[in-house]
Amino acid sequence: MSERNVPNADRRYAAAVPEVPDRPQAPTGRLTDRRGRRLHDLRISVTDRCNFRCTYCMPKAVFGTDYAFLPQASLLTFEEITRLARVFAAHGVEKLRLTGGEPLVRRDVERLIGMLAAVTTPNGVPLDLTLTTNGSLLARKARALREVGLQRVTVSLDALDDKIFRAMNDVDFPVADVLAGIDAAEAAGLQPIKINMVVKRGVNDHEIVPMARHFRGSGRILRFIEFMDVGASNGWRMNDVVPSAEIARRIGEVFPIEPVEPNYQGEVAERWRYLDGQGEVGLISSVTQPFCGGCTRARLSTEGKLFTCLFATAGKDLRALLRGGFDDAQIAAAIGAIWSVRDDRYSELRSAATTGLRKIEMSYIGG
Ligand code: GTP
Ligand code: 5AD
Ligand code: SF4
Ligand code: SF4
Repeated sequence: MSERNVPNADRRYAAAVPEVPDRPQAPTGRLTDRRGRRLHDLRISVTDRCNFRCTYCMPKAVFGTDYAFLPQASLLTFEEITRLARVFAAHGVEKLRLTGGEPLVRRDVERLIGMLAAVTTPNGVPLDLTLTTNGSLLARKARALREVGLQRVTVSLDALDDKIFRAMNDVDFPVADVLAGIDAAEAAGLQPIKINMVVKRGVNDHEIVPMARHFRGSGRILRFIEFMDVGASNGWRMNDVVPSAEIARRIGEVFPIEPVEPNYQGEVAERWRYLDGQGEVGLISSVTQPFCGGCTRARLSTEGKLFTCLFATAGKDLRALLRGGFDDAQIAAAIGAIWSVRDDRYSELRSAATTGLRKIEMSYIGG
């Protein structure tokens, strides 16, 4: 199946055009949803493509050579993304994270980052600007990214063992090249560097302690992520999940650790520090200890749909407003209306009632 045969490739996930209130008011700063959660972070997916085929995210059987990725014309342009980022900042957003797919495969992404680096809060403070990458292109791009104003990076790395890493990315990409990318990011000053490891039982759980050993004392913060039931193609089973409590125990048996207070309210990762002062690790437990109560994240898809939950089944089509002649105040009012009725808490509800929903792929909505 080629892209030409799939004219509706850009319509694969339902999205309604948001209501624009009649008399839009200028945003008045912070917005809160029905559960009292403010809108603080915007995660922007800049491409649905990736040069890896991680088995838990873009399995080859689904994302094969004939997979219909979004056509160029459906992607938000850099100008459109930046305009939305400004509107979100006026609504209290203080953090922008570029995701994908793999954000560094979007052509000329450095230009976009330069544009986003100029966006500020209403008080003139630059936003926290970061991205999540598989690290494959970092060795080449880190310095340029820093020069245009990127502040820090989070690198996904699921194993140190080259054989396991190559099997998990499923494109035979060597781990040494990602490690070189991490070094390049550090040398370029993209700090602090965080490393995300998705743990899958029987696949890479025996890499937990070697990964902890490798990153202890390096200043790089390793976070272990419970394998999630995101999307519909990764064959998720509860048996594949290694609960964070078990991860903490397995690390603690070798390197004693203790819990630490969060850096900020709503932090996704639970922090633990090594008792011998060699730094900290994070545990992201969205399956066994959901953190919806503090969830301040909105997600903007590559084609401009706004999702208020990683597990949402439908988004709101902001691109239709951007391309439909609406002004910033109208778009801001529409976003305000969407956030004010937000009630999502999928991870807390994960149950028979939510399984079977047509969930959105992580590579489309962003991690
Ligand atoms: P920092 O700004 O560095 O604290 O980043 P972060 O911890 O907010 O974000 P990061 O993007 O590194 O998130 C790490 C992983 O946590 C993601 O790849 C997801 O697997 C998971 N995650 C992040 N946000 C959410 C969320 O809102 N819901 C769920 N269920 N999982 C999330
Ligand atoms: N469960 C948990 N994390 C996932 N990621 C991708 N798919 C999953 C999943 N099913 C993570 C990646 C990366 C980020 C983009 O999302 O490891 O860190
Ligand atoms: Fe690509 Fe990241 Fe998904 Fe792996 S987890 S396929 S690197 S987007
Ligand atoms: Fe937020 Fe949805 Fe994740 Fe809960 S499941 S933390 S509401 S994105």
